[in-house]
Amino acid sequence: MKTLTVALNERSYPIYIGKDLLKQADLLTGHIKSKQIVVVTNETVAPLYLQTVLQHLNEYHVETVILHDGEQFKTLDSVNLIFDKLLACKFSRNATLIALGGGVIGDMGGFAAACYQRGISFIQIPTTLLAQVDSSVGGKTGVNHVLGKNMIGAFYQPQAVIIDVDVLDTLDDRQFKAGLAEVIKYGLIRDLPFFEWLEKNIDALLMRDKTAITYAIEHSCRTKAEIVVADEHEGGVRATLNLGHTFGHAIETGMGYGTYLHGEAVAIGTCLAANLSHRKGLLNDEDVGRIIALFKRTGLLVKSPAELSTEQFIDLMSVDKKNVDGEIRVILLEAIGKATLPTNIDNFSLMQTLQTYER
Ligand code: NAD
Ligand code: GLY
Repeated sequence: MKTLTVALNERSYPIYIGKDLLKQADLLTGHIKSKQIVVVTNETVAPLYLQTVLQHLNEYHVETVILHDGEQFKTLDSVNLIFDKLLACKFSRNATLIALGGGVIGDMGGFAAACYQRGISFIQIPTTLLAQVDSSVGGKTGVNHVLGKNMIGAFYQPQAVIIDVDVLDTLDDRQFKAGLAEVIKYGLIRDLPFFEWLEKNIDALLMRDKTAITYAIEHSCRTKAEIVVADEHEGGVRATLNLGHTFGHAIETGMGYGTYLHGEAVAIGTCLAANLSHRKGLLNDEDVGRIIALFKRTGLLVKSPAELSTEQFIDLMSVDKKNVDGEIRVILLEAIGKATLPTNIDNFSLMQTLQTYER
């Protein structure tokens, strides 16, 4: 097992990464300081892993909340079901919430933990590749609104993140590939050697080689932890983690939550950001080609959805947390391994990219 640390002084926490970690009771119970525990999961993950977690908690008062599965259920209504359970069971402020699932469960569980009695402890047990390499680390929590993705939320750090690589055995290929989009992101924003490693090892990852997967998770979590420690509340460098996301969120919202998976939308969004970077004279042709080629080899779509008009796209992009005074700001690339901070984009360049990029 590897242990990384997200070093945030008194709010520091470990990220445990390894095989069979769900079966290790002490990793979990070592971070529980209460008798009352609520485990939040969904109807897909519960039959697979809930009992494995519950078997370590016989000594506690444990409640479970099993939510519907899907991005379209990442809503305040779903979070309210968690509050209903906590209040109906009269859980105190020292209770612990365990989020067992992908990024949707982790984001909602974390948000419920941030809000219930102004904050209770929570532990992330991410079960998708995407959640293991990105969403479970760093304390961004929240829900979607019909008018904008992730627009309601809070920064709230967990007490621990437990990453069991074996749970990925039950994850289907589409979800696995979507997770790889966020892995590729780390190479693109600040790590050319990692991007090159991915170019060499993408086939091994797609064949589910455990050594390659574990390396990719560790490397991604280390990068994410460093960025979060440098800029917890996204005043600067953390925004680079949003490469491709302004376009991607517009695709997710515009096409209806769940139509494109988050990672799928981010892959297309990153190709659009690469196109825009090239248009602005920052990124060379060869690098644009390498980026698109790696996403294609990963089995991710790189075409932008034909159903979204340029006007709709721009309208959707104008609802984004990076925007300032209503101006659209996007992360661009100067090279593979070098992202810019959020950059104001003139409508003309944005329209050219959206109109000319392949649909
Ligand atoms: P998800 O949570 O919807 O999970 C994907 C699917 O896999 C679901 O159907 C889920 O039930 C299923 N699943 C989960 N674990 C499984 C397993 N081990 N075996 C079989 N099936 C399993 O999606 P996701 O890709 O994990 O997360 C996407 C969400 O994460 C988006 O809402 C996105 O906004 C958010 N996100 C948040 C951050 C952050 O920093 N907080 C970062 C990136 C993404
Ligand atoms: N996934 C973006 C962030 O955590 O900042």
